[in-house]
Amino acid sequence: MKENLNRIKTEALNEISAASAKPQLQELELKYFGRKQGLLTSVLKSLSGLSDADKRELGQSANQLKVELEAAIKAKFTELDAALSQRFVDLTVAAPVPAGHLHPVTLVKREIEAIFRQMGFAVMLGPEVESDYYNFESLNIPEEHPARDMWDTFYVKQDDDAKSKEKLVLRTHISPMQVRVMEKHKPPFAVISSGRVFRHEATDARHEHTYDYTEGFVAGENLSMANLKFVLTNLFQQLFGKDVDIKLRSSYFPFTEPSVELAMACIFCKKKGCSVCHTGWLEMAGAGMIHPNVFSYARYPKGKYTGFAFGIGISRVVMLKYNIPDIRLLYQNDQRMLNQF
Ligand code: FA5
Repeated sequence: MKENLNRIKTEALNEISAASAKPQLQELELKYFGRKQGLLTSVLKSLSGLSDADKRELGQSANQLKVELEAAIKAKFTELDAALSQRFVDLTVAAPVPAGHLHPVTLVKREIEAIFRQMGFAVMLGPEVESDYYNFESLNIPEEHPARDMWDTFYVKQDDDAKSKEKLVLRTHISPMQVRVMEKHKPPFAVISSGRVFRHEATDARHEHTYDYTEGFVAGENLSMANLKFVLTNLFQQLFGKDVDIKLRSSYFPFTEPSVELAMACIFCKKKGCSVCHTGWLEMAGAGMIHPNVFSYARYPKGKYTGFAFGIGISRVVMLKYNIPDIRLLYQNDQRMLNQF
């Protein structure tokens, strides 16, 4: 029996020290101290059949072993608890989620807004669904005017029982903000308004049906084309550097007189002419001195104010700034393109 106790002691101590998890230790407790079949319990039970002298000697050894093993198991439980608390996982800590980033159009839009704010412009927002009145009529383009063909327009279908019979369109430009703002504010003011515009037209490398645009207009007294030229040149120099290759050429818009457009040298072909620009130059903006009829729509006193306005195709700015040879790439949400920003 003495040997039996020694064997139990060696085996139990080895097993307890090798245990790596609490359930394993609980099984060992059962194996040695289980009420019915525990190995040490059986030894203790069998003492009753021994002589008094053996009972005393072996009983003492068996009880000592019991105390020793209980202590070893308790110590092992403490050790495993400590190890477990070091591996504590704090579930309240936010899992690392890959951070998003700004779209290149948003980056350029913000840069343009910052440059205009620096020049003293206020930033305003206009509606994407616009009335025919503001989109065309207030801009000196009455119904049936041939200049309406300059913009292929998406007309918004309205229910027969719609409260207002006003004709609605998806804005083809943000020039409608001119009279909207003039109706509420008196000059002097300088405003820009950016956002999406919509055109019912075929797409190609430099034309999208939905693209981003910034309108700007300044009204006050004694303003001239020189002021307009300064503002646009300053903008393009800040966007592309002092040596940016831009030119103004004469143009036509019903709401400006005289009218110009700003073209920038094509970076893809270095002005040789390519499938993006065709002519070596890309048209970036339309502009001009605000037509007196527009001031009349805003009910400003005749002849009192002068002003200039411009509309920039900022999706084209994005193309030239980031070397993107097809405008449609900007609106396809292709991660291979977007992840480069
Ligand atoms: C206009 O829309 C005028 N409202 C601009 C203006 C404002 C003139 C104030 C005078 C005073 P236009 O249709 O040319 O003009 O468009 C303005 C700019 O948008 C163009 O110069 C060009 O850079 C860009 N653009 C025109 N059509 C598209 C298109 N389909 N896709 C991408 N960019 C375009």
